[in-house]
Amino acid sequence: MNIILLGPPGAGKGTQARKLVEERGMVQLSTGDMLREAQSSGSQMGRIVANVMARGELVTDEIVIGLIEERLTTVKADGFIFDGFPRTLAQADALAELLEKVGQRLDAVVEMRVDDAALVARVTGRFTCGDCGEVYHDRTRPLKVAGSCDVCGSANLKRRPDDNEDSLRQRLMEYYKKTSPLIGYYYAKGDLSVVDGLAEIDTVAGSIARVLDKA
Ligand code: AP5
Ligand code: ZN
Ligand code: ZN
Repeated sequence: MNIILLGPPGAGKGTQARKLVEERGMVQLSTGDMLREAQSSGSQMGRIVANVMARGELVTDEIVIGLIEERLTTVKADGFIFDGFPRTLAQADALAELLEKVGQRLDAVVEMRVDDAALVARVTGRFTCGDCGEVYHDRTRPLKVAGSCDVCGSANLKRRPDDNEDSLRQRLMEYYKKTSPLIGYYYAKGDLSVVDGLAEIDTVAGSIARVLDKA
């Protein structure tokens, strides 16, 4: 089963994708995570995208489509969760072509709906484990033991450089301008399901599970 998690910055795509990996053995394909990895490895692509990402703008379609193509053609999985991809109509068309090329289909697109005020609070309170990638929040998903990741015990806890109000405003603008047209695109294909992303993490997970079980 292959699904897209669609939603604005801070909607909870990464949080829910990690749950699906744990519970259903699916593989998470987060273009945001891939681009951050390219930056920390110091690759040429990482250097090219660093400023664009820090400002909250989208990197080029060519770069992200290339990243997804590389994974889809090399990773074997029971199902992929596309997290933060596609983000433009051109990316959506490219994904349809790539899936066809590898003999796979898209089973569901889950739009996670969250209002802007909640997104600011979520993004500005977020931190992640630099070793295992677990996603936390100062208030809604705090650490059980201060200074140490619940999952792997690491003290390497990080905040993203684009998690400030200015970059978030830009990310939201990009979302409404370039990504939200995908809602109509997938609705027209009969692939779209909407879940209330404002509910608690486990409640959202339950709503997504119901969508997947019907797909
Ligand atoms: P990316 O990393 O994809 O960032 P984003 O889309 O802005 O989304 P976030 O990761 O900020 O949010 P999320 O929905 O994953 O929320 P999370 O689960 O962490 O992209 C970053 C940048 O890379 C882009 O700006 C762009 O430059 C570039 N890029 C990436 N993909 C691209 C593409 N395809 N094309 C072009 N450019 C691309 O949750 C957020 C916080 O809320 C956490 O603290 C979490 O604990 C908390 N939380 C989650 N769910 C709940 C809940 N239900 N209740 C309360 N708190 C919650
Ligand atoms: Zn994310
Ligand atoms: Zn960890």
